[in-house]
Amino acid sequence: MKKKIGFFVGSLRKNSYSKKVAQRLATLFPKEYEPVFVDIGQLELYNQDFDDEERPPVAWKIFREFVAPFYGIVFVTPEYNRSVPAVLKNALDVGSRPYGKSVWDGKPGLVFSVSPGAISGFGANHHLRQSLVFLNVPTLQQPEAYIGNVTKLIDEDGELLSTTVAYLKTIIAAYITFLENNRSE
Ligand code: FNR
Repeated sequence: MKKKIGFFVGSLRKNSYSKKVAQRLATLFPKEYEPVFVDIGQLELYNQDFDDEERPPVAWKIFREFVAPFYGIVFVTPEYNRSVPAVLKNALDVGSRPYGKSVWDGKPGLVFSVSPGAISGFGANHHLRQSLVFLNVPTLQQPEAYIGNVTKLIDEDGELLSTTVAYLKTIIAAYITFLENNRSE
């Protein structure tokens, strides 16, 4: 059976650059892995009352059950106001509860930030890492994965330039090694 890698994209935008990078990244995984994109846009905003009263929304239940068996997790995100877009933070929060039943625990992760700006989503990248430390998600440290000035890295057919794809390959290669060395089971 293939090893499932959950992909979480921090943008719901139809023509999202982050989604474009994530989709290309997914094609570069070796064939024993199966990238799976997770829809995080349908999750109700986290409210602890629903868990405390044991009436979590159906979408939360489905999300938690879907994510729990993933072998690895990949986050590709833009930066909103120097931090993580709310939709992605919400998904992290929903997956982290009820207390003691986090679906993230121990899954090796990759954090990728993407921006049309020169700072490459650095703030989002590191705020996301901060939450992942608490959630016990070991993340690839080096090479760090940033794409800045993304609009200049796309050709007239809307494809990422070959130099960018080569960069994505180095990140994937490092992540696979990290993933296989850092699984907790
Ligand atoms: C942005 N953008 C942005 N860019 C950046 O580099 N740093 C930032 O702090 C912000 N802040 C920000 C806030 C909000 C609310 C929006 C809507 C946008 C611009 C952002 O990088 C740009 O819109 C990207 O195209 C969003 O990523 P996707 O949707 O293309 O993946």
